[in-house]
Amino acid sequence: MIKFRLLRLLNKGARYVLLEIIWQWLELVSQIIIIGCVARTISGVFYNIIDTKKMMIYLGVALFAIFSRLVFDRLYTEASFEAGVEAKKNLRDEIYSKLLRLGSGYRQHVSSAQITQMMGEGVEQLDVYFGKYISQFVYSLLAPVTLFLVLSRYNSKIAAVLLVAVPFMPAIIMALTKAAQKLSDKYMESYYSFGDTFLEKLHGLTTLKVYNADEKAAEDLDEECQDFRKISMKVLSLQLFTTFALDLITYVGTAVGIVFTINEYLKGNMELEAAIMFLILAAEFFLPLRLLGVYFQIGMNGIKAADKIFAFLDIKEPAQGKQAVTEGPYNIAFRNASFTYKGISILSDLTFDVPEGKLISLVGVSGSGKSSIANLLRRQIKGYDGSISINGKEIKSLNENALMAIMTAVAANSFLFPGTVRDNLLLGNSKSSDKKLNGILKLMNLQDELNPKGGLNFILEEGGKNLSAGQRQRLLVARALLKNTPIYVFDEVTNNIDVESEDLIVKVIKQLSKEMGKTVILITHRLENAVMSDEIFLLTGGSILEHGTHNKLMEKGGRYAALYKAQKALENYPGGEVS
Ligand SMILES: Nc1ncnc2c1ncn2[C@@H]1O[C@H](COP(=O)(O)OP(=O)(O)O)[C@@H](O)[C@H]1O
Ligand SMILES: [Mg+2]
Repeated sequence: MIKFRLLRLLNKGARYVLLEIIWQWLELVSQIIIIGCVARTISGVFYNIIDTKKMMIYLGVALFAIFSRLVFDRLYTEASFEAGVEAKKNLRDEIYSKLLRLGSGYRQHVSSAQITQMMGEGVEQLDVYFGKYISQFVYSLLAPVTLFLVLSRYNSKIAAVLLVAVPFMPAIIMALTKAAQKLSDKYMESYYSFGDTFLEKLHGLTTLKVYNADEKAAEDLDEECQDFRKISMKVLSLQLFTTFALDLITYVGTAVGIVFTINEYLKGNMELEAAIMFLILAAEFFLPLRLLGVYFQIGMNGIKAADKIFAFLDIKEPAQGKQAVTEGPYNIAFRNASFTYKGISILSDLTFDVPEGKLISLVGVSGSGKSSIANLLRRQIKGYDGSISINGKEIKSLNENALMAIMTAVAANSFLFPGTVRDNLLLGNSKSSDKKLNGILKLMNLQDELNPKGGLNFILEEGGKNLSAGQRQRLLVARALLKNTPIYVFDEVTNNIDVESEDLIVKVIKQLSKEMGKTVILITHRLENAVMSDEIFLLTGGSILEHGTHNKLMEKGGRYAALYKAQKALENYPGGEVS
């Protein structure tokens, strides 16, 4: 009923759980004092053996106890909140550092949607477990014992009867746990699957509309929603039943206690004061456990969420290399490098060099493996055969941060964050002055376009949505230039943008290698952009089919030449001259 791995997450929060137990226990003590005062006053009045002074004292003590009880309740709520906050923070920290350790390749293991759910709702579902359940677990053992010790002074027989009835509650909880667990598994599965589908449809909403497929999508969603509703109802029914069972024990147990009390009182074995104490406090034996049962049901979902989170935390981490490449020449060498994904060969037997200061291009039709090469190099995907090295050091043996310090990768889908242009540029190099940033904007022809909007202070929306495609890509390149690393990888950075932006970006990429001596890999499916390269590699099906300079490849008259001519023809088509 208590998961020890979760307890460890409490860490500093354990102090708050201890406080919760203490405050709750003091609340109970106050309660006993209040009832004690009431019982003594009533019995005193009844037998007419109490004077006003004594009555005032009892009243004073009772009022003080009521006030204390309010204070303890307040303190308990605060401690409960703090315990939850601390534990959730620890858990989120663990998930985050796990993500960092998994590195940029985390997507090989979990989807971003799963991470989002785990970090958000998944962790949130543990709130009751950490904030209430754990302390209640201890308190619900402590409370009946305390009551027994107090009440057995009045009548040990009835106190013992009440104490004996108490273990029925955890027995019920345990018995229903098994049923609940199976149901809870299904519930969580349905919950996550529904969440996944929803996010997916939401992201693709425009596309679904374009293809008139939104109705079908809505039906799919409806169906999953119904499944989720049904399983939710089952969970709720079971919860209701558990609550009913717990209530039954509470009431029956209390009633038994009351019957015994009345019986003893009528027989004259018991004082009125003691009888009142029993009558009022009998229920208190059971209430903490009843509440534990309620928390347990809510906490159960949290435990399921925790299982998912722990499964993620237990993913085997790729061996993180320790080496760094600190000096040039920054030559990249592929030697019989292959990559297989789930049994399917994606890249096979690649052998080629990218010497320092050279610009090479990877070209080929979609799906030929260009991005996979870039992703292996930047370690977005891991686990290749053969060898990929930089300056003689195998990239597997490199520390990821060290690798990022010498390589900048820009892709068509690189991210622009919500925030100012300045913030986004500073990611490239946090120490750049505004003068430098403006210089780079000017280089990328962005200064004139952005200045009317506020220049560096222009606030970008998520993903740079309030820029044109060409501006976006030029800004991504600007940020990359600021990072100033010896190696650059550009993956389709000129896709679907205006000709002026494309020409400028290609010109800057050329300057990077020719004037600044950077090692550059350019990936493009538009062959015209690769013409300037020192060497071009044409990929098909994950292997190199042809390679050489543009002129050599054209002379050869092979596949590259054919592709190049076909693209030229297509581009000239609107002009009416198909060559
Ligand atoms: N994340 C992935 N999981 C599984 N297969 C992938 C993944 N990404 C790409 N592939 C497969 O790898 C092959 C090469 O893809 P990619 O390198 O993206 O090609 P390109 O960039 O040349 O268009 C394709 O057959 C594609 O289906
Ligand atoms: Mg690609």
